[in-house]
Amino acid sequence: MNHLLDTLSPYPFERLRGLLKGITPDPAYSPISMSIGEPKHPAPAIARQAMVDALDGLSNYPPTLGGEPIRRAMAQWLQRRYQLPSIDPARQIIPVNGSKEALYAIAQLVVDVQPGQPRPIVLIPNPCYQVYEGAALLAGAEPVYVNQTAENGFAPDWDSISESEWARVQLVYICSPGNPSGTVLDRSQWARLFERSARHGFVIASDECYSEIYPDEAHPPEGALQAAHALGLTDFDRLIVFSSLSKRSSLPGLRSGFAAGDARLIERFLLLRTYNGGAMSQTVQAASVAAWRDEAHVTENRALYRAKFDAVVPLLAPVLKVEPPQGGFFLWAGVPDGDDTTFARDLYAQYNVLLLPGSFLARSIHGVNPGAGMLRIALVDSLDACLEAARRIRLFAAARTPGTPA
Ligand SMILES: Cc1ncc(COP(=O)(O)O)c(C=O)c1O
Repeated sequence: MNHLLDTLSPYPFERLRGLLKGITPDPAYSPISMSIGEPKHPAPAIARQAMVDALDGLSNYPPTLGGEPIRRAMAQWLQRRYQLPSIDPARQIIPVNGSKEALYAIAQLVVDVQPGQPRPIVLIPNPCYQVYEGAALLAGAEPVYVNQTAENGFAPDWDSISESEWARVQLVYICSPGNPSGTVLDRSQWARLFERSARHGFVIASDECYSEIYPDEAHPPEGALQAAHALGLTDFDRLIVFSSLSKRSSLPGLRSGFAAGDARLIERFLLLRTYNGGAMSQTVQAASVAAWRDEAHVTENRALYRAKFDAVVPLLAPVLKVEPPQGGFFLWAGVPDGDDTTFARDLYAQYNVLLLPGSFLARSIHGVNPGAGMLRIALVDSLDACLEAARRIRLFAAARTPGTPA
C-alpha cells in the first residue's frame, strides 16, 4: 500500500462528525445545514434537458480532450467572461469531471521528485480547500502553508516564504474568490505571483470555482488569465486555471468543469488524463455546453445569493464579526470569544444548525491557526432556511455574550 496515504489528514467534515458525535440536537428545531458548500438552488432546466437529449452519448467512449462543441463553448465563455481576445479550443482548454479531481491531478502532473534533490514544495493557502494538501502529499511534495489572516485581508502572505523555500517551489495553489473568506486577488497581487513564477519556474494552479458568485453585477472578480493577459503574459506561461459548473450553475452532481491556460501544460495534462481516465461522458458534455452558453440562469443564481447575504449579514453583524464576501457563498465570521469549535458544537446541540469551525479548515503554522476563532457559514439553502438559521445563531450568540442584542 502507498505509505503516503498515511500522511493524509481527516477531511473537515469527518472532524465535524467527530465533534458532534453523541450529541442529539433539540428536536424542537428542524435541521439546517450550513456546513457543506453544496448549492441547493434548482439545476437549470436547459442543462437538464440537454442531458436528456444526449442520452445516446452513454453508448460511446468519449475522447479525453472532449468534443469540439464543449471545447468551443468553454473557450468562448472564457473569452466573453474575461475579455480575452482568443483561447484556442484545441490547445488551451480541457474538460474535467469537476474541478476537484483536476486540482488533485495537477499536482501529479507538475511535481517532479528527483532522487538526491531537495524535496519539492507545493504552496498552499491556509486555510484552504483540503484537496490541495492531499494532492501535494500524494505527489511526494512538501506542502508549505501560506497564512491568510484578517490583517492581510485574507490574502496569502507570500512574504512568510523564505528565499530558500521559493527555490524549491514547483506548484502554487491559489483560490480567488477564496474558500472560505471570499477574498478576491487584485491585479497587483497577481503581478507579484507571476513575477515569482517567472523567477523560480513554478506552476500556478488558480482555483476559480467561485468566480461567478459575486455581489456586484458591474464588477465580476478578475480571473488569473485575465490578469495575466492584462500584464502582457499572453501565452499564460506556467499558469492553469480551474473553473466549474458546480457553483456557477448549481450543478454539483454533474461533475463538470475545465482546466485552461498554458498550452504546454494542457498538452501534458491530456497525456496524464488519458491514462487516469479523465474523459468526460458525452452526455455530461452536452449538458455542460448548454450551461456554459447561458448566462441568464447564472444571473438569477447570483440574485438568489445576494438576497440571502442582504438578509443574513445585518442579522448576524451585532453578534459575530461578519461582512459580506467579495465572492462565493460563504460567510467567514469571527466568534467573539474566539472558540469556534465550542460555538459550532453548542449551536448544533441547542438549535440544530450545522456550521464548520474555521480551525478545521486550516493548519497551525508558527503556532497560529488562521482559521481559529472563525466560522464558515454556507448560504446554500433557501432564503427562508438561511434566515431562520441566522435568527437561531443570533439568539445563541447573544446568550453567550452578555450585553449583545438578541
Ligand atoms: C475551493 C474549492 N475548489 C474546488 C471545489 C470543487 O468543486 P467541483 O469539483 O464541484 O468543481 C470546491 C468545492 O466545494 C471548493 O470549495
